[in-house]
Amino acid sequence: MTTADDARTLFRELTGTDPVGSWSAPGRVNLIGEHTDYNDGFVLPFAIDHRTHAALGLRDDARIRVVSTFDPVPVEVALGDLAALFPDRRDELPEWSRYALGVAWALIVRTGRNDLAGVDLAIASDVPVGAGLSSSAAIEGAVASALNDTWQLELDRVTLAQIGRTAENEAVGAPTGIMDQMASMLGRADAATFLDCRSLEAEIIDLGFADADLELVVIDTQVKHSHATGGYGERRAACERGAQIMGVAALRDLSVDDLDRAAELMDEVTFRRVRHVVTEDQRVLDTVRTLRTEGPEAIGDLLLASHASMRDDFEISVPELDTAVEAAMSAGAVGARMTGGGFGGAAIALVHRDRAGAVAEAATTAFADAGFTAPHVFTVTPSAGAGRD
Ligand code: GLA
Repeated sequence: MTTADDARTLFRELTGTDPVGSWSAPGRVNLIGEHTDYNDGFVLPFAIDHRTHAALGLRDDARIRVVSTFDPVPVEVALGDLAALFPDRRDELPEWSRYALGVAWALIVRTGRNDLAGVDLAIASDVPVGAGLSSSAAIEGAVASALNDTWQLELDRVTLAQIGRTAENEAVGAPTGIMDQMASMLGRADAATFLDCRSLEAEIIDLGFADADLELVVIDTQVKHSHATGGYGERRAACERGAQIMGVAALRDLSVDDLDRAAELMDEVTFRRVRHVVTEDQRVLDTVRTLRTEGPEAIGDLLLASHASMRDDFEISVPELDTAVEAAMSAGAVGARMTGGGFGGAAIALVHRDRAGAVAEAATTAFADAGFTAPHVFTVTPSAGAGRD
């Protein structure tokens, strides 16, 4: 049974009827460009072949009910009550439901509509949760697409990504950027989305992994993270402090040439945070250029430099992620780095097809030797973005 079937089955169990349709949105891997999105910078993510599906049916009242494979207990709210719940009283709702209900709330706020039909939604997902693969953006994208079509709102994909981000920031309370939602909305098979997070201009960049006989291996460390708490927000605050000291609107406005001056003006920790973001923006630009001129085999050093910068300057790696990267490289990967917000989650390795098994084995052995929980290793394929199933 596919995950789309799971959503339909769950819908039938909830309502005793068939859904009118089902919509889905993918998780994402970020190839490079970490913690640059909320600094107005550049990112290069791609949508993956793991998706969240939302089966939807209409109700004859103005209520929204959601159920999911995350939690068997349905949550039901009057559409008119969402404005009272978000953001201040969000804690009254089960955490998973805030992603879906938060999207409905953000759509209502954005459109100002108060005449919308009630809906039942059943959500099923095969995007690993807490692995740094944007399971949350996948829920937001699936629900946003389903409601946009059903309520005939005719919002475009970039606007739906912004709706997802509003839900994430305000309904869930995670102070994240726009990358994940844009990647989930705009994904294309065999390609990455090169995104300018200031203008929100996106360009589709061919990855050419298949032609080069390369695979993208994900090593999920099983170390769970949450961006609603702790380190993520602290890093964001350090970036804002750095930009303020340098007198720019965002770190995007600095280049590598500004770093000597930055070192003189700020404390050492803030400087290292700034240096990560400024050099990472440059690495995204270099990666796009390298993909175009030399192909994917030539981006390995950029991936490794990105990881080192996150480990040493931004300090968001964990021993499991470093071990995964080292093991992948020792088994012959072209390049490897942690992906996503950090503090756990997954590493990615770009690997020749005939080395993929060796990389998985090396990671598993290295984790066992270090006494870590066994990693979950699998390959992902750059895939299409959100839409109707
Ligand atoms: C998380 C956030 C994104 C981005 C990354 C780090 O995935 O949701 O907005 O900031 O971390 O690059």
